[in-house]
Amino acid sequence: MDRIRIRGGRRLNGTIPIAGAKNATLPLMIASLLTDETLVLENVPRLADVTLLQHILGNHGVDITVSGKRAGEDDHYGQTMQLSAKNIVDTTAPYHLVTKMRASFWVIGPLVARMRQARVSMPGGCAIGTRPVDFHLDALRALGANIDIESGYVLASAPNGLRGARVHFPKVSVGATHTALMAASLARGETVIENAAREPEIVDVADCLRKMGAKIEGAGTSTIHIQGTERLGAARHRVLPDRIETGTYAMAVAMTGGDVTLAGSRADLLQSALDVLRQAGVEIAETNEGLRVQRNGAGLGAVEVSTAPFPGFPTDLQAQLMALMSRASGTSHITETIFENRFMHVQELVRLGAKIHLDGETATIEGVERLKGAPVMATDLRASVSLVIAGLAAEGETVVHRVYHLDRGFERLEEKLAACGAEIDRVAG
Ligand code: EPZ
Repeated sequence: MDRIRIRGGRRLNGTIPIAGAKNATLPLMIASLLTDETLVLENVPRLADVTLLQHILGNHGVDITVSGKRAGEDDHYGQTMQLSAKNIVDTTAPYHLVTKMRASFWVIGPLVARMRQARVSMPGGCAIGTRPVDFHLDALRALGANIDIESGYVLASAPNGLRGARVHFPKVSVGATHTALMAASLARGETVIENAAREPEIVDVADCLRKMGAKIEGAGTSTIHIQGTERLGAARHRVLPDRIETGTYAMAVAMTGGDVTLAGSRADLLQSALDVLRQAGVEIAETNEGLRVQRNGAGLGAVEVSTAPFPGFPTDLQAQLMALMSRASGTSHITETIFENRFMHVQELVRLGAKIHLDGETATIEGVERLKGAPVMATDLRASVSLVIAGLAAEGETVVHRVYHLDRGFERLEEKLAACGAEIDRVAG
């Protein structure tokens, strides 16, 4: 299995192109199931999760083609993907595919809305917590679907089609909001989603659904109104930039010092994370190209942060911030409120010399002067990249194992960092 090898201590200087957002691309690809016409997605990132979802959708009968690079285009323009779900040949999403990628459970909404039936494996637990799917199922029940659980599969059916309803979520859920939004777009009558997730990826999917002919108002707020339509059609949509990739590289620059432009990024997608970095002493400016992140000489200040649904500080940047705070002067506190078990990076950061104490959902991080390289590994994507950030500042060599986690969500990570001066490479095998 590939490893990433880093020799720490280099500052980062240059430009890093920001890819299309993974967490918008996945539901956008799934939205192709809602129509028998072609959905064209631009700026699709080259990621293992995208390839896996191509296989999963292919299993349902979706024809997918990916156009190559056009002359004069740089890699960072992303791919253009055409998805055509003209003939859905199978409404089952099998266990062996759903367990590889949880978000593939989200096919349930479009399948039951368009095909009036779906048989989708329950995803089971995962490295960042128990992650149930009850909100998804409650939303589909509210829209009139019959839901049965049988041998680890959810059987959803709506022989007469779905009908609009009030869907109230007890807690904000990104995935359940996607499910309700997609299903309601093809339901008869009006749906109101209350306590909806406000994440930019929800807004991006709603924008695309609107281009396909859906009538949606209020995406980006807690209450979304959807007027269902009988069918949706073709559309062309460009995926928004990845705010988590943006925040991750901003933290890498904050960690090493230097001056990097994150090309194509947008400050409005991660204001709370930028505020935290500014508070820690990092300079961030919006430019025509994107965001310019600088730390020259000044030390890092400690921060107090709790993760929260958008527009709060994202759980997907919690591990990276913890790596950064391990070198701050003073004591930081980071509280994880979204997932109950998203602290696998703590023990690995400690192996690199970080001083972190966990008490329930709060981590206390006592900044240290130096980290020391070591072999490390992590069991999820964001935890893995936090180890890369720590490795960039650690003395000597850090080797991050299980790189396939990184490949799920970061496009050409080592190339992008190496181009800015990091001593980092991938060791095959
Ligand atoms: C999405 O996961 C993201 N995944 C996650 O990104 C992200 O961490 C998470 O939202 C929170 O922002 C994608 O977009 C593909 P949730 P999702 O439903 O939708 C509880 C990454 O690294 N809950 O918003 O699965 C749940 O347990 C990842 O890219 C229920 O109780 O997250 C959690 O505590 C990993 N019942 C909370 O809600 C349900 O039916 C929020 O989870 C659904 C969720």
